[in-house]
Amino acid sequence: MTAPIETELRGLLVVDLGTQYAQLIARRVREAGSWCEIAPAGKALDLARRMDLAGVILSGGPASVYADDAPEVPPELLELGVPVLGICYGMQWMCQQLGGHVEAAHKREFGRTSLAVTRSEDVFEGLDGHTVVWMSHGDHVDRLPAGFQVYGRSDNCEHAAVGDPARGFFGLQFHPEVTHSVRGREVIDNFVLRVCGQAGDWRPESIVRREVDKVRAQVGEDGEVVLGLSGGVDSSVAALICHEAIGERLHCIFVDNGLLRKNERETVRTVFAEARHVDLTIVDATERFLGNLAGVTDPEAKRKRIGHDFVEVFRQEAKRFRKAHFLGQGTLYPDVIESVAAHGGHTAVIKSHHNVGGLPEDLEMELVEPLRELFKDEVRAIGRHMGLDDRLVARQPFPGPGLAVRCLGECTPERLELLREADHVVTSEIEAAGAHEGLWQYFAVLLPVRSVGVMGDARTYEETCAVRAVESVDAMTADWAYLPRDLLARISNRIINEVRGINRVVLDISSKPPATIEWE
Ligand code: XMP
Repeated sequence: MTAPIETELRGLLVVDLGTQYAQLIARRVREAGSWCEIAPAGKALDLARRMDLAGVILSGGPASVYADDAPEVPPELLELGVPVLGICYGMQWMCQQLGGHVEAAHKREFGRTSLAVTRSEDVFEGLDGHTVVWMSHGDHVDRLPAGFQVYGRSDNCEHAAVGDPARGFFGLQFHPEVTHSVRGREVIDNFVLRVCGQAGDWRPESIVRREVDKVRAQVGEDGEVVLGLSGGVDSSVAALICHEAIGERLHCIFVDNGLLRKNERETVRTVFAEARHVDLTIVDATERFLGNLAGVTDPEAKRKRIGHDFVEVFRQEAKRFRKAHFLGQGTLYPDVIESVAAHGGHTAVIKSHHNVGGLPEDLEMELVEPLRELFKDEVRAIGRHMGLDDRLVARQPFPGPGLAVRCLGECTPERLELLREADHVVTSEIEAAGAHEGLWQYFAVLLPVRSVGVMGDARTYEETCAVRAVESVDAMTADWAYLPRDLLARISNRIINEVRGINRVVLDISSKPPATIEWE
């Protein structure tokens, strides 16, 4: 957990009361064109007082307002003189706090519900008649506080949308942030732009200008920045922003660990060094990485060795830039904010993640993190705005340990080469068929299994490759994707014909959980 963000921008505060959707709400606010921050209940008031606050959104949450474990929300949040939107639990808490009453509903409402709009004003400006919304509640507000009026009702909920326009307080029993609430986006836009009076000017152009200015101010007239470029969208966009801010005083280091996908190193060289004249050092550390992986088959041991080697290689290279006191990183907002775990407790370590951001503190460099206030979709929008090659902007996520976690068993140069070629067939065929739209990731995995085949009347005994394609929104859960039969046939045919050493292709049809997206 890094230090909280200090910003001079006027924005909204999303108070996370234990929902799964706090980040989604914040993204919707950003999409409406306004800056916003997220804080858990315990830190919300402090942050609200430090921000140039335009409004507050109280999220939903799993508790009942009258339960012992209900989050303690500071009542002062209603006395800051700014509009407040309460969603689900947030609405119930606000109404109870203002003199209304909450009770367990006779009939719970979960999922799609028809909402009848009874007042087409304020947050419901532009909406009328019936609209589909998404509900998820067991309690409801049975008595409204003084000054509140009904804006919408459903069959089971008399007070599905309420508000006191004089104070700018609104409550929604449904979830406007999820896409199943068909016109939810307009409701959030109305709150942000009409009720809170935000200008809607939080856009890629203004974000880039602001971040470039901030990097310039932080680094000063002659400071230098070293940045680990992975070829992923985050470090790429961070590099572009730093480059625009300080030009040749940015030094990028790209470590080729021998675990990269086909053409990866060349793409990075072309996009950064050749097209943009970014100072780029490409370190070929293949021997070191693969040497340390020789004979290693345990997934965690592989991850640990790769993480360790990466730090060492980077440390050595960074030494060459003695004047550089700054370390550039593509840290994103979701890594910085503190979200409330609805059910508390420790989470088990499934895999020890490694990425370019995971550098040790003893490098004694000050961090430059131009993306630390941004969501991934904002980073992509900025990348496009800055003309970053589409191959990098639209790139699927790729794990820090690279092909090692997809090369089950030992990572020998020969096996990695088989995997690299097979993966190239999988990705290029899926992309050529346009089937990648809507997929989170699609790749090949080399299994530690040899099997018998027959090719041209001769017996073969060769490796097996799995095709993995998943749909997901945040990688926390994932569904295996249905790929058309003819596409699968082309993939299988090409791999078996073109990649000498693989004689069998299988399809991974497992979801996460219980499987994970990567195999190791
Ligand atoms: P799993 O396999 O845990 O992966 O379902 C979830 C997402 O995280 C990616 N992944 C990583 N990303 N460093 C990263 O930056 C890592 O060590 C790492 N391991 C997995 C994976 O590709 C998927 O998108």
